[in-house]
Amino acid sequence: MKFKYPKKQYYQKSITLEFILECDSMISVMEIISQVARYDVNILLLGESGTGKEMLAKIIHMLSPRAANPFVPINCGVLSGLMFEDKLFGHEKGAFTGAIDRKEGSLELADKGTLFLDEVSELPLQNQVDFLRVLEDFRFTRIGGNETIEVDIRIISATNKDLKEEIRRERFREDLFYRLQVVPVYLPPLRERKKAIPKMVEHFLEQFELTYKKTKPAVTQEVTDIFLQYEWPGNVRELKNLVERIFILNEGDCIRYRNLPPDFLDNLNVSSLQDIRELAEVRKEAEGKAIIRALEHTGGDRDMAAEMLKISPRTLRYKLRQYRIRPGGKGETGFFSENRF
Ligand SMILES: Nc1ncnc2c1ncn2[C@@H]1O[C@H](COP(=O)(O)OP(=O)(O)O)[C@@H](O)[C@H]1O
Ligand SMILES: [Mg+2]
Repeated sequence: MKFKYPKKQYYQKSITLEFILECDSMISVMEIISQVARYDVNILLLGESGTGKEMLAKIIHMLSPRAANPFVPINCGVLSGLMFEDKLFGHEKGAFTGAIDRKEGSLELADKGTLFLDEVSELPLQNQVDFLRVLEDFRFTRIGGNETIEVDIRIISATNKDLKEEIRRERFREDLFYRLQVVPVYLPPLRERKKAIPKMVEHFLEQFELTYKKTKPAVTQEVTDIFLQYEWPGNVRELKNLVERIFILNEGDCIRYRNLPPDFLDNLNVSSLQDIRELAEVRKEAEGKAIIRALEHTGGDRDMAAEMLKISPRTLRYKLRQYRIRPGGKGETGFFSENRF
């Protein structure tokens, strides 16, 4: 199933086409996004780190009527107290030591556009109060100023934490939570959409081909298989970084197992790869065992054994030959296979 982006006059081709979907869960995400992007509702993006929340926030902005105006991200994880207030509201000249000039805050910079609050769960409680107040009427003053400034912004926030749990632990305000998550959108981890991996690898190789002006190598099946096996705790970010490293370090025209960085190979659960057996082999062994059991049960009567196994005597004869099953030697009871199932 292919997802068709809505053809609006503000349709922004570039970033939306860079976003690989390739599986039903992501197509559903895009369907929700394309419905809500045009309205000024607040959206909360949920998902592990590296699943594409920031990229999706930009896409929402690009699909909205605000696309021509600024998209302003704030990382709540690195700011607290006065630093956050300053970032959000800006300051007047002389508001505090070091405030040499007037500085506009993110709220002003994002006017008529979108403000993206990344890692919103990390916002200290006091700053959550500040922010909640702004959400009431979008009016504020710069630090050290008295002019009331009014802005028109759309809020998208993102978190990799369970905010309900943060509320329970009294680390996040419930009222702010309901304000931010009018529409919650969940991005599944990469390990739950592995189907997209080959397409993503190809896409990133094409991107790096342009960035580094170097011909991209082909990816061997063994490497694709390993990528499909791996759990990707760092999600799409980890995959993209790995592809970049391999791309830069690899001089050949093909990426093979031996081109994978040693620290990545160390992370691989190699035994789980060894557990994988060809289906034909598994089937052969299971069939062989079932035939031996049936023959032992019927005391070696092939017709009866075939009937129990719901196959024709002819098929049984064929399989006995194929699996080299024969009665045990003199003095032995039972049957065995020379293939040692
Ligand atoms: N579906 C996708 N298709 C292409 N690139 C993606 C996709 N999802 C994430 N990326 C890329 O992976 C990296 C991490 O994504 P990001 O949006 O920063 O994740 P998050 O904000 O959830 O931590 C970025 O470089 C982004 O461009
Ligand atoms: Mg992020």
